[in-house]
Amino acid sequence: MPFTVVSTRGPFSHERVGGSYRIRYSAGGVSNSISRLMELEGGTWICLGDGTGDSAFEVEDHENYKIVRVLIGKKEIKGFYEGYANGTLWPLFHYFRERVHFNQTNYMYYEVVNKLFAETVKRNIDDDSTIWIHDYQLSLLPGMLRNDSVTNRIIFSWHIPWVSPEFFSTLPESKQIVQGISRADAITVHTSLYRTNLISSYSFVTGSDNGIDGKVFSIPLGIDNKYFSRKSERSHYPLDRTDRKFIFSIDRLDYTKGLIDRVLAIEKLLNLHPDLSEKFVYVMAVNPSRTSVRQYQIFKRELEFQVGRINGEFGNVNWMPILYMYKRLGESALLSFYRHADVALVTPLFDGLNLVSKEFVACSKDGVLVLSKFAGAAQDLPGALIVNPNSLEEMANAIKQALTMNPEERAERLKRMKESVEKKNLAWWLTRVRSLAVRKPHEVSS
Ligand code: F6P
Repeated sequence: MPFTVVSTRGPFSHERVGGSYRIRYSAGGVSNSISRLMELEGGTWICLGDGTGDSAFEVEDHENYKIVRVLIGKKEIKGFYEGYANGTLWPLFHYFRERVHFNQTNYMYYEVVNKLFAETVKRNIDDDSTIWIHDYQLSLLPGMLRNDSVTNRIIFSWHIPWVSPEFFSTLPESKQIVQGISRADAITVHTSLYRTNLISSYSFVTGSDNGIDGKVFSIPLGIDNKYFSRKSERSHYPLDRTDRKFIFSIDRLDYTKGLIDRVLAIEKLLNLHPDLSEKFVYVMAVNPSRTSVRQYQIFKRELEFQVGRINGEFGNVNWMPILYMYKRLGESALLSFYRHADVALVTPLFDGLNLVSKEFVACSKDGVLVLSKFAGAAQDLPGALIVNPNSLEEMANAIKQALTMNPEERAERLKRMKESVEKKNLAWWLTRVRSLAVRKPHEVSS
């Protein structure tokens, strides 16, 4: 039975350009993975319609599934999406306390939009539909559906980190958040630490455990590795041929991704090892994201200042250490970067999982992965060079080690990671989630 999937970010939005419409594909691993699942499995995908032309496509058949969009106005976008989801929950669940904005009006919009989703879900399910809700933007939705007498099986997948109970409890609405999610029949997170944190947060803020530990599962999201490796095999080396090593990264523009620390690590590398000057080029691709949120606009300026400063200091007419691109890369460009990079840098300060690391592993022919210990994917990728992104020295040393690693060690590390990505792939994830959908209901009242 296909799922009724619910997430704020859908597969794409429609943008009005003059008298016509242009499709804008979503950035972010979660929506990409769900897209692939929906194409294969069919079903209904309920998502936010926040594109300038989405009101003309409220219900749309796409590939082999149906898209239903929840249309909201500018005030709701500001309060729900920019305000509560991305100005409160996002920084809180990534331990950025100084960026967390507590604001009751924004929470009120969060409730309003979750309610709109609840009404849309109710209109689009049958008695036997399994409702599969995704991520922190919709934490109240399971509770709202239960209060509206919806008895369908509900699975909730949380894709960002879950913080420690005490830190979580700094959120004035912490009780409503855990109580909302706990009304699902099963909850998935990406690591066992997030699972422990979620369970203890529930007890910490509600004062009881209500059987929550029996319904939280650590199931890390995987990728369609065959698709990535097959497609990338046909790709060509993307740079002008030189003897220079090629370092690559791709991220959404987000302060959690450690982008500034990473370019400072490149500076540190060149200061510690001047002999590496002109020996590599670092292609840094950054996907525009949450461009209407002020914190993101300020962060972009800071990042670009640092890139310009470092290039100005170390570059010359023939060479710039950092080749920076602020745009969405097309698929074939992305796959060729993955395939041919000598080194990939995935160094977020905190990240629920990070699918880029897995995509790189699936595509790479002989690359080395430098990976933050604070990315959920670090649990699954034992062959990576694991770093603490808060230490520029540690990152610089790991990049140097990756650039100079002998071919045998590169191959052995990559092989170990490919095995893991192949085993815990997208189909594996789906099978495990599906098994939750057929378990006996395990209702937690709250
Ligand atoms: O993985 C975390 C996440 O917030 C997803 O829920 C979301 O689709 C993605 O990052 C991109 O963020 P946004 O939806 O705000 O563009």
